[in-house]
Amino acid sequence: MNYHKFETVIVGAGGAGLMAALYASRGAQTAVISKLYPTRSHTGAAQGGIGAALGNMEEDHPEWHAFDTVKGSDYLADQDAVELMTAMAPEIVFELEHMGLPFDRTPEGKIAQRRFGGHTNNRTGKPVMRACHAADRTGHMILQTLYQQCIKNNVTFFDEFQVMDLLINEVEGRVVGVVAYEIATGELHVFHAKSVLFATGGWGRVWEVTSNAATLTGDGAAIAFRRGIPLEDMEFFQFHPTGIYKLGILITEGVRGEGGVLINNEGERFMNRYAPTVKDLASRDVVSRAIYLEIRAGRGINGQNYVYLDVRPETVNKYFAEDGVQGPDGKPKQVTAEYLLKKLPDIIDFCKTYLGIDPMQEPMPVQPTAHYAMGGIPTNIYGEVVIDEQNTVLPGFYAAGETACVSVHGANRLGTNSLLDIVVFGKLAGQRMAEFARANDWAPLPQETWEPTQAMLDRIRNSRGKERAARLREELRRLMMDNVGVFRTEALLNDALTKIRELKERYQHIAIDDKGKTFNQDLIEAWEVANLLDIAEVTTVSALARRESRGAHYREDYPQRDDEQWLKHTLAYRQPDGCIQLRYKPVVITKWQPKERVY
Ligand code: FUM
Repeated sequence: MNYHKFETVIVGAGGAGLMAALYASRGAQTAVISKLYPTRSHTGAAQGGIGAALGNMEEDHPEWHAFDTVKGSDYLADQDAVELMTAMAPEIVFELEHMGLPFDRTPEGKIAQRRFGGHTNNRTGKPVMRACHAADRTGHMILQTLYQQCIKNNVTFFDEFQVMDLLINEVEGRVVGVVAYEIATGELHVFHAKSVLFATGGWGRVWEVTSNAATLTGDGAAIAFRRGIPLEDMEFFQFHPTGIYKLGILITEGVRGEGGVLINNEGERFMNRYAPTVKDLASRDVVSRAIYLEIRAGRGINGQNYVYLDVRPETVNKYFAEDGVQGPDGKPKQVTAEYLLKKLPDIIDFCKTYLGIDPMQEPMPVQPTAHYAMGGIPTNIYGEVVIDEQNTVLPGFYAAGETACVSVHGANRLGTNSLLDIVVFGKLAGQRMAEFARANDWAPLPQETWEPTQAMLDRIRNSRGKERAARLREELRRLMMDNVGVFRTEALLNDALTKIRELKERYQHIAIDDKGKTFNQDLIEAWEVANLLDIAEVTTVSALARRESRGAHYREDYPQRDDEQWLKHTLAYRQPDGCIQLRYKPVVITKWQPKERVY
């Protein structure tokens, strides 16, 4: 066993982890532990933009951004946190710019912005240009920029270390470190810390069709859950409307922001019927449901489970004229293939590579893809993990980014708000951790540190069972896609829960083929499947209990939103006997009372 001591330990090297590390390192000795090489983190896959009401292209205001976020969340977001995030958005975008992030520019040299789903001019209800972007590689640029800043600031990185446990000093009621598995050597490392932050990303790999990288298996949330920390609002998982058919790879909403439209088998731009004002730029829950309703009605392309996303210049220009979209000169806006190639180079490339289709010549086949967890480890606005209905802080434990639930996204996140969330709350958490390091002494490690992890790994390594983790994983992912996807019912959810529990039982009998220590991916993947199973179970239990439809959680047996009963956050706790207990806490409302949500 190897021992390390850092005042601040950050787990995860995506945008939230790096922003937190950057700010923590200004006041404390800081280490980042990542299962990947940092710049391979999934933030790098975020394409379309970061939301900030700069008003560079047209009138816009942080308050409009806040209202759109609350409305997009189906009124489940905590409005104090939303107001803070949207108010900080302009300054944090400028901060990134000053760090060197190469945003696209307007002809006058300002940061360029484009339209995105659910972002509107609050007077007219029409789409507003709010997404600041670097072509369709915005997340990639954020990641590179922050990594360089962390290196400059002497943050210590432990790359390709898989954190497997959280260490809690129960006497002092404080988190004091983590246990990590070094992938290259198979050795365990104990990290002793004054405070720990989880920025471990989401868990899209629970579903069969997903935009998420293979590494997004909910590790941080599952570890915390097993340590008795609640998970909030797990029933809310977002399906992004436009993943590449069958593959799930993200086709950015920026395509529709630049004028692309969704088309059914009859050649109809069907979003006109579902969202007459903003059409293809309605929020994601609305668009994903609309696509499935078209498919169910037999209007999928060639009777299959997909529709077309059409961004050919002639199509875009036709609908710009129809919608009265104007360019800066007041004339109907027009785009060319050359312009679109500059704005959307990566997705054009993906389509050529994976589909053999050039989006400038042909429409893209798309279907909703599991994309983003609105729920997660509950925190306050400083990233401090809170563990009950009174928001009691668990000292020394922080979370930020997708694995956390502040909650700024409520039941449905608006596009561009995840990149904003990671930098805003990463920064606030990092600052708080530096203060915590100054104000607090070291607390001792608990008596047992690495031993339970070693025992768990030995059990998997030495098992002679007949089950294979990969098989269980694929059965789980299909089940979640069929039963706990965009449309849900009590019968489907009950069936899912029974089967998840059967899979958990079978998991007790898994065995692996690679018994070695060096780069044992077989072992890591087997461990990740346990996380997927725990996350799937808590998602399903939370979804079964919530008898209403709100945002991304659509119950066909309870199709209405029910504010009287359900305007509240779910808190799911794992009991010592493995059962899941649900409790609830109120939503923070500052100025926007819930009303009917129409686009
Ligand atoms: O569509 C996209 O570019 C995704 C952005 C997001 O999830 O915020």
